[in-house]
Amino acid sequence: MDITAIRFPKQPEGMISFLDQEHMREVGGFHQSFPMYQETPLVSLKNLAGCLGVKSFYVKDESFRFGLNAFKVLGGSYAVGKYIAQKLGVSITQLPYERMVSDAVKEAVGDLTFVTATDGNHGRGVAWTARQLRQKAVVYMPQGSSRERLENIRAEGAEASILNLNYDETVRFAAQQAQKNHWIMVQDTSWPGYEAIPRWIIQGYGTMALEACQALPERPTHIFIQAGVGALAGAVTGVFANRYPDDKPTVIVVEPEQAACIFKSAQAADGKPRFVTGAMRTIMAGLACGEPCSIGWEVLKHYADFALVCTDETAARGMRILGAPLADDRRVISGESGAAGVGAAADIFLQPQNQKIREQLGLNEDSVILCFSTEGATDRKSYQEIVWNGKFANLMGGAGNAGK
Ligand SMILES: Cc1ncc(COP(=O)(O)O)c(C=O)c1O
Repeated sequence: MDITAIRFPKQPEGMISFLDQEHMREVGGFHQSFPMYQETPLVSLKNLAGCLGVKSFYVKDESFRFGLNAFKVLGGSYAVGKYIAQKLGVSITQLPYERMVSDAVKEAVGDLTFVTATDGNHGRGVAWTARQLRQKAVVYMPQGSSRERLENIRAEGAEASILNLNYDETVRFAAQQAQKNHWIMVQDTSWPGYEAIPRWIIQGYGTMALEACQALPERPTHIFIQAGVGALAGAVTGVFANRYPDDKPTVIVVEPEQAACIFKSAQAADGKPRFVTGAMRTIMAGLACGEPCSIGWEVLKHYADFALVCTDETAARGMRILGAPLADDRRVISGESGAAGVGAAADIFLQPQNQKIREQLGLNEDSVILCFSTEGATDRKSYQEIVWNGKFANLMGGAGNAGK
């Protein structure tokens, strides 16, 4: 129940034009060309808002995304689309889904192998995209990864395995394999020298933020967005900063205390990213990573407002609040990583010791809160263990989640 928040030190404004409305129209057009595209629901939890004493509480439910139970496919699919467009020398606007998956494109690009490291959601999105294109995907997962998530990736036809490494080490292993075998690395994090594909992934996530922007009947005053490497948080922050240049909502980046690389970077206050190492034991598998995405970090350090860390109990409460809603509020099935933002927002009001944080963040009865439930129950056994039996990482046996 312990929550700590710090303010991002003020940095001169940086570049977020790659997430502006023109780029987002292009990205949105690409996703809308998919036959399985459907805007995910933006749920207004009126009774929860009343209970917490705020004006409104909105949750974007990504469990409905492309039948894959998480937002991640937006990034992988757009990055692969951009890669193929570049290979063909055409604009992404000339490569809608139907053309991208055509025999003509397959023949023109030949046999490709996409490789990635993942705790599950991103790898499933990449595997799904490769399958649409009749191409190959190789997916590496860190130790402690969920069996169900592994099987879901294999069910998309990918070659997937769990390694004895943490998330950041798994990423490095995937990068080595890509280099050795001339595979295409589709990673949801960036580092100096590896930025084109991650930038496209971040733009792909922008579709989720843009849909929320367009569906909201009022301007959010506060956005709670959970972070692993911070690519998603960067996308959400950039899209909203472009949409509201003069009155940007307050952005609060939420991380598990065991893997708080964005928090640690903000705390260092010199604009440079910091790493967290070792086994990151948390139920929030998708957030258990220790090295910030360099592009995401550049956006966050200029435009995010607060970095916040929370415990597994907060994420678990988020899952329960969404899964067992008040009165006629709509039910949202949210996994451990998906519910972190809602859990943090709610705990700030529900736990008396967080009164100071409420004031620090400027939350009051006029607040309009927006959260993103970024996954459904992507590991159903774990979902049930947590929601029914109150199990946390230290009770789950094995190595826990040693990586994202
Ligand atoms: C469900 C879910 N939410 C949030 C995130 C965080 O995204 P990022 O690593 O870009 O910060 C992830 C990452 O895997 C995820 O799977």
